[in-house]
Amino acid sequence: MQHQQQSIWRRLFSGRDKDNGPDGPSEPALKSQGLEQPGDTKGGIIRHLDGFELDRDSADGDFMHDADTLSKIDIQSMTTSQYDALIDSELERKWILNLSMHFRDKSKREKFFVTFRQHEHHWRRVTISLDYRDAPENSLEADLARTETQREKSAKIYEAIRESLAEIDFYSTVTNLKLETKEGRLHVHVVEDVNPVKEIISYPPVRMIQHMNCRRVRERELHFDSHMSGFVYKVRVHGQLLIKKEIPGPDTVDEFLYEINALNQLYPAKNVIQFYGIVVDDREENVTGLLISYAARGALIDVIYDNDHSLPWPTREKWARQIVGGLSEIHEAGFVQGDFTLSNIVIDENDDAKIIDINRRGCPIGWEPPEATPLIDSNQRISMYIGVKSDLYQLGMVLWALATQEDEPDAYGRPLKIDADVAVPAWYRRVVDICLSTNPRDRVQAIQLLSWFPDQEDGSQYGRPNGSSLSVNGDGNSRRNYLSPSLIPQIKTVHPPSDWAYIAAVANAE
Ligand SMILES: Nc1ncnc2c1ncn2[C@@H]1O[C@H](COP(=O)(O)OP(=O)(O)OP(=O)(O)O)[C@@H](O)[C@H]1O
Ligand SMILES: [Mg+2]
Repeated sequence: MQHQQQSIWRRLFSGRDKDNGPDGPSEPALKSQGLEQPGDTKGGIIRHLDGFELDRDSADGDFMHDADTLSKIDIQSMTTSQYDALIDSELERKWILNLSMHFRDKSKREKFFVTFRQHEHHWRRVTISLDYRDAPENSLEADLARTETQREKSAKIYEAIRESLAEIDFYSTVTNLKLETKEGRLHVHVVEDVNPVKEIISYPPVRMIQHMNCRRVRERELHFDSHMSGFVYKVRVHGQLLIKKEIPGPDTVDEFLYEINALNQLYPAKNVIQFYGIVVDDREENVTGLLISYAARGALIDVIYDNDHSLPWPTREKWARQIVGGLSEIHEAGFVQGDFTLSNIVIDENDDAKIIDINRRGCPIGWEPPEATPLIDSNQRISMYIGVKSDLYQLGMVLWALATQEDEPDAYGRPLKIDADVAVPAWYRRVVDICLSTNPRDRVQAIQLLSWFPDQEDGSQYGRPNGSSLSVNGDGNSRRNYLSPSLIPQIKTVHPPSDWAYIAAVANAE
């Protein structure tokens, strides 16, 4: 593999002038950041930066903030607030933080995974490595080590290298930028990302999905709308809003193919998100992503959080039925969801719940079934244990969250129980209890659980299966006063010990 190294020596970004208010003097917002010749290449091949040609093959007229349209002079005449707005907008549309990782050895090093939109249809996968150990004072590294959120860190990184980006020769695979301050200057070492873990994805060839006979959309037919989370984007295809999911990394190709196969076979399931097609590169050789319907109300975790305990019971009961129905569709078709959390259920514009993210990847710590906890505690690999029964346990946690309107069931102590003062029908409690059974044998199949929900047609939301229905009025308030056992749920602090959990922090999880 060709190994190249560019070493761009830069003045350390030295901050911006204070905003002097709307009428104040508009001082140059950025100090000059002229490039200097590298003094030491450490054996790498230096590319001549002069005469570097931007790849313009797919540049589109509507791409704002292109190097051409926003000259340095424009930037230098901006006030701080204008500049901040520009950076904010570029962090949404041009420099997208997908995720970040700490190293497993817990040393103070960090790696950021970013998608840099070089031109309208030309996206670059970039990783940025930083080592905060022995960071010089007033360096970018020292600043980042003190910075709290990943987004803020990404913003600082972006600001520090923003003007160099046009001069970097990006690899078609993944480009790693190692940022290091030495002698008061920030060095940007540019290499193809092959170390220490190979980040280059072997995109599946189109023939691997030939049997599905599904719609294929070329990358250039997609129009970026916004970043959702991780490697998930909202896009427009021929005017229609859709969600595009990309393959996050080299280790997840199998999961990605699983998800496409599941979505394709489940189509047109009632309560699983609708599959639209796959994304292929412009030469139609490889599969680079998948497309699904966009659910306008977003993830259930956010809906519960935003509504702050005010979701009416009939709506929650409807979603519960749809969620159990969706899981039953998945299981009956022979698939496993694997990460059945509130983040993987979305609510669409018709107020219907749909299941997304069917890829057996495993769940975050706190969502694992109790039989997995000792394995996690002893640092064992857990992925082999993901199955229907772990899905059913997580279903119990989701239904618990719909009952309590708490968005973080994983933060509560176990055993998880619906307190007696929570106004839900008795049959619902029973369904939740069965799902949350410690013994996996007691967790019955989703299709059976579904049959315990009252019929939708009979108008009774609070029926049966055990006869003991609870009287609840339409807005979810109980007509009886229930004695509260005043069991205040315990917050459990969980540490990510094993590969069950993602080590990575998702960019906008903060
Ligand atoms: N069809 C959709 N409609 C609306 N929002 C969606 C849709 N699909 C995904 N999202 C949003 O994007 C988030 C991530 O999507 P998804 O769960 O499919 O990917 P993921 O691999 O879990 O990514 P991440 O690790 O970033 O959460 C979801 O939690 C949800 O907020
Ligand atoms: Mg997800």
